Amino acid sequence: MLREVAGIRYVTPLREGGSVPGVVEADDYGTYVVKFTGAAQGRKALIAEVIAGELGRRLELRVPELVRFDFDPVIALGEPDEEIQDLLKASGGLNLGMDFLPGALGFDPLVFGVDPLEASRVVWFDALIGNVDRSWRNPNMLVWHRNVWLIDHGASLIWHHNWKSAAAASAKPYDASDHALARFSPEPAAVAAELAAKVTDELLTEVTALVPDEWLLDEPGFDTPDDVRRAYRELLGARALDIHRRITTGLRQEKQPPPEWLRPWVEGKNAT
Ligand SMILES: Nc1ncnc2c1ncn2[C@@H]1O[C@H](COP(=O)(O)OP(=O)(O)OP(=O)(O)O)[C@@H](O)[C@H]1O
Ligand SMILES: [Mg+2]
Repeated sequence: MLREVAGIRYVTPLREGGSVPGVVEADDYGTYVVKFTGAAQGRKALIAEVIAGELGRRLELRVPELVRFDFDPVIALGEPDEEIQDLLKASGGLNLGMDFLPGALGFDPLVFGVDPLEASRVVWFDALIGNVDRSWRNPNMLVWHRNVWLIDHGASLIWHHNWKSAAAASAKPYDASDHALARFSPEPAAVAAELAAKVTDELLTEVTALVPDEWLLDEPGFDTPDDVRRAYRELLGARALDIHRRITTGLRQEKQPPPEWLRPWVEGKNAT
């Protein structure tokens, strides 16, 4: 099971996140980014965070620790925004917490370099989980203590929104030409054998067991939470074997940000 903590002080909403996560202090003296069950993205986003995040960590990628986060809306009565109040009130009980990285900066591919091996590993991982949310426009990576950390996997595993067509959806190619690390010459096929060998049924069993039963109950077409876990396991296990053959890499020039020196012109500041 994921470690469990309880919130003791709601600090602030993170308005830059579409689901408006909160920064909340907990009874272990830690500070966490909390993704709320009451958010419009729903519990599937939290399932994706747990499975993708824990899988990533086991592939030795940097992902902040995830915890089960017990949230009592009473601690946030001081939050003045009514919409956020509604979100918090709808999220009493079990939520998902992620260790807050203090002072972390949003990753900018023009400012921070990543070596090709690390870029290859991250792109292969994102292909495995079908992550469409790591483009240079919205990298969902933080730079903390000079290292890149991966966050926000809520939009991955999108095939779990329709299990009937999941196999077909997961067999589609993965386009990495827009990826935040595309400019660092990733070669996911070169790391595929090493990484795929780690994605064993045992590892997937361990990772899916970390998803709370509460979030897997009542899934149409499945009798028990363990049946749903098995579906995630089978799909990811199969995908690990051959996803590298379906990844498109290479910069899509017109979609990449301009080099630093060209920016004032592109943005029209020095236009004559
Ligand atoms: N562990 C963390 N430590 C520090 N800051 C974080 C952490 N997790 C998230 N943040 C900050 O909060 C922002 C929103 O987080 P995140 O992207 O996970 O939320 P989201 O609601 O899923 O967003 P999106 O709009 O991308 O779907 C991030 O861009 C980052 O600035
Ligand atoms: Mg985000």
